[in-house]
Amino acid sequence: MASQADQLVVHTRPSTPMAEAFRTLRTNIQFASVDRPLRVMLVTSSGPDEGKSTVSANLSAALAQAGQRVLLINGDLRRPSLHRVLGCTDRIGLTNVLLGQASITEAVQETSVPNLYFLGSGPLPPNPAEVLGSQSMDQLLAQVKAAYDMVVVDMPPVVALADAAILAPRVDGVLLVVRAGRTNKEAARQAVAMLQRVRAHLLGVVLNDIDLKSSRYGYYYYYYYTEERSGAQQAAATTETAGEEIKSRTRHKKEERP
Ligand SMILES: Nc1ncnc2c1ncn2[C@@H]1O[C@H](COP(=O)(O)OP(=O)(O)OP(=O)(O)O)[C@@H](O)[C@H]1O
Ligand SMILES: [Mg+2]
Repeated sequence: MASQADQLVVHTRPSTPMAEAFRTLRTNIQFASVDRPLRVMLVTSSGPDEGKSTVSANLSAALAQAGQRVLLINGDLRRPSLHRVLGCTDRIGLTNVLLGQASITEAVQETSVPNLYFLGSGPLPPNPAEVLGSQSMDQLLAQVKAAYDMVVVDMPPVVALADAAILAPRVDGVLLVVRAGRTNKEAARQAVAMLQRVRAHLLGVVLNDIDLKSSRYGYYYYYYYTEERSGAQQAAATTETAGEEIKSRTRHKKEERP
């Protein structure tokens, strides 16, 4: 994987408390963007079910718990799931604002986490990539940037769908989620290449659902326990229990992607 993507490696261990894992991720993201302001961050992965929404929700909660006003946007206009994780609705949200049917203030919902606000998908459009690539979307991003300390956008997979690649160069940074035992190595490489091609600022890779005790990840396990961090800010974290922190897991049956 490209060296840029190695700058932020956060990975998982089943017995590490979720909150600790995401606090580590939060800290590393802050350091990964030390030279440039990071206000709008996009979360994607190469394929489906790798933990994008889980990471988006829990990272947003960790940022909010640190006192930042955080807006989590459901940018997945194809198979939205965040509203269920947060106990919110997706009936009103992003697309209503983009169509001028609601203001941001009207569409944003409060969550059970103080300082964490949610903008659901709204009615799903037939042309998500076009909607996300619109000028209205740029205006919306500029507005939320001014109103919140941090904006996290949960996206669909980047390899098969254009949506994430269209939005990626227009935000401050991108997190790529890789899930142990699920993400195909070639697909992950392809995802990095696609993000680089559109000149996205790749903040780093979140390794989700990894057992660090397995020999394959022993190197990272070592770093976690010795607290010896390289300049690349390697750290260990777990998202194993991530869904629980936001109360319900996203273990529902989801519709297949088109
Ligand atoms: N670290 C983890 N440990 C256990 N379960 C997990 C973990 N990460 C994700 N999951 C579960 O895997 C499923 C997929 O996770 P999630 O919805 O976050 O993935 P996604 O990449 O957003 O999927 P999609 O491509 O549909 O948007 C969910 O049921 C979620 O609870
Ligand atoms: Mg998702």
